[in-house]
Amino acid sequence: MTIATAPGKIILFGEHAVVYGRPAIAAPLSQVRARAVVSDGSRDGSVRLIVPDLGQAFALHEAEEENALAAAVRQLQRAADIDQLPALTITVSSQIPIASGLGSGAAITAAIIRALAQHLGLVDFVGNTAVSDLTYEVEKIYHGTPSGIDNTVVAYEQPVYFQRGQPRNRIEPFAVARPLRLIVADTGVSSSTRQVVGDVRHQWQANRQVFEDLFDQCGSITERARQALQAGDMVRLGQLMTKNHALLRTMTVSSTELERLVETAVAAGAWGAKLSGAGRGGNMIAIAPEWHEETVRQALLAAGARHVFTTTVSGEPVIGIR
Ligand code: PMV
Repeated sequence: MTIATAPGKIILFGEHAVVYGRPAIAAPLSQVRARAVVSDGSRDGSVRLIVPDLGQAFALHEAEEENALAAAVRQLQRAADIDQLPALTITVSSQIPIASGLGSGAAITAAIIRALAQHLGLVDFVGNTAVSDLTYEVEKIYHGTPSGIDNTVVAYEQPVYFQRGQPRNRIEPFAVARPLRLIVADTGVSSSTRQVVGDVRHQWQANRQVFEDLFDQCGSITERARQALQAGDMVRLGQLMTKNHALLRTMTVSSTELERLVETAVAAGAWGAKLSGAGRGGNMIAIAPEWHEETVRQALLAAGARHVFTTTVSGEPVIGIR
């Protein structure tokens, strides 16, 4: 039996602009994870995928092309050039909320690919780069034009500075000077990344100059944020978050709920706050002095946040196979 897990993720700076080649920073959310367990044999001799939490169980050969779990298995099978997989049971579970920008899809895919590659002894496919690349291929099915940041951060499980590029993306895992405590609040509104990304694209097509300029400003904030993270300058980081949020608002990806939560966090003493991920719903993040954290948390709940949790981003590299 082989088990692999992958963390959730949160985008700290640069969402949307990252799709257009500007740098972004994302960090793993190690306390919420997706998990895949692969064992030999199955009830009917096929490759069977089981998702106990959803009451789902099906054979790989019966799954539709768009099925995300099947796509993860097929992607690895294709890459490793395996004609026929042996009978296997793959059991998948996840603690990561779906459709809220926490990278649940990418984490599930990465966990399946890593567990399966490890189980089958496919040494070329167990490393972070291979897991990230294969996860990216699966992400394309759902996101249309994903930047590649989600698959990177869930596979590397480290804060990463990421810039999309040719022939290869620039991926720089980096250490933070001091552990970063992030307050994450869920609006409770689910939103489709694909749709929001598509909508930004339409606006960019209609107003190229305006949007290129907004993306440039986001890119410059990301650069400054990386320096602040590496210097442990939380006050500066908070200011940069709020600035990045204002740019995202101009791109029309904020929402009434996100605005309310961002304003509430800052009014309750946070150094800064912003939406995180595609926007129009999903999560916002805030950083606050430790003595204000509880006040900010309570204020966010009172302002209608569905869930609020605090997570610590540290720079420690984590080995992805467990
Ligand atoms: O909603 P999420 O967390 O999956 O993030 C999407 C991030 C975007 O920059 C909007 C899109 C992308 O592919 O990077």
